[in-house]
Amino acid sequence: MSEVLEVIDVMRQEVLDGMSMPQKSLPSKYFYDERGSELFDDITRLKEYYPTRTERTILKENVHKIGEVLGDEVELIEPGSGSSEKTRILLDDLDSVCCYVPIDISGDYLYKVADGLREEYPKIDIQPLSVDYTRYFEFPDRHPTARRIVFFPGSTIGNFKVNTVRRFFTVIANLVGKKGGLLIGVDLKKDIQVLEAAYNDSEEVTAAFNKNMLLHINNNLNSDFQPDLFDHKAVWVEDKGRIEMRLYVNTSHTVTIDEYTFHLKRGEYIHTENSHKYSLEEFEQMVSPWFTVTKVWTDENDYFSVQFLEPRK
Ligand code: AVI
Repeated sequence: MSEVLEVIDVMRQEVLDGMSMPQKSLPSKYFYDERGSELFDDITRLKEYYPTRTERTILKENVHKIGEVLGDEVELIEPGSGSSEKTRILLDDLDSVCCYVPIDISGDYLYKVADGLREEYPKIDIQPLSVDYTRYFEFPDRHPTARRIVFFPGSTIGNFKVNTVRRFFTVIANLVGKKGGLLIGVDLKKDIQVLEAAYNDSEEVTAAFNKNMLLHINNNLNSDFQPDLFDHKAVWVEDKGRIEMRLYVNTSHTVTIDEYTFHLKRGEYIHTENSHKYSLEEFEQMVSPWFTVTKVWTDENDYFSVQFLEPRK
């Protein structure tokens, strides 16, 4: 089977499975077609969406201290690197980085970004790797003397399911080895108003981002989701410690996907994403089977953290 067919087949199965559950849900990875990636970029610039700018400030203010803990010769590896924007803060200021390995599932964009980085940073060996980093993958041993450091900003960890979190930390601990480290961005628990505003912005960009998933699915499957028949709402769920992105049905209707029909009742919702927030203690506890937290940097409001983790000895 061709790769494209395989991807569509997986999407079809996942969408059918999610729509067949008593609590309907769709996988958050389907936010990100071209339009969805643009909308996410817009989200990161919204006044209510504090994570991106706060993390960038933490990185900028502490880049030299971060450099000290990373070591003298660093092979920097970034899963889900996208445009590698935050990484530039490290590459600009840290001479210790000898090699940068951006990892992304979408090869074309990855190679384009890597070409740009080669021009900008001629002294750094840029080695893009196109794989699904949440699964086990082969990693070439190009710089055996360098310390392997994985950089995972953005609090993307908060979007993972429990099983994916476990697999991710297992994969990363294996990849960096006993001498390596993980520099990770982690969003922290805070006032519910601040959290809910970040995911229900006044310009309704997040609403457009959430509904765009339905168009992305229609463009790939034989389905007829109507975004106007849904309202976006993000809700803080205290006992789960997470923001849930939801699409509420505003008019009862049916959705068809190939030969399957789904009845949607007014008032029910499709769950599209989880964004977990952690206290420092909860995060430390969660990573403890694999890593020890050795450094934490935060902003003045304690909204966000950048943490350095080392494998358990
Ligand atoms: C990518 N991820 C860390 C974002 C978050 O905040 O959970 C995705 C997002 N969803 C809505 N707004 C932003």
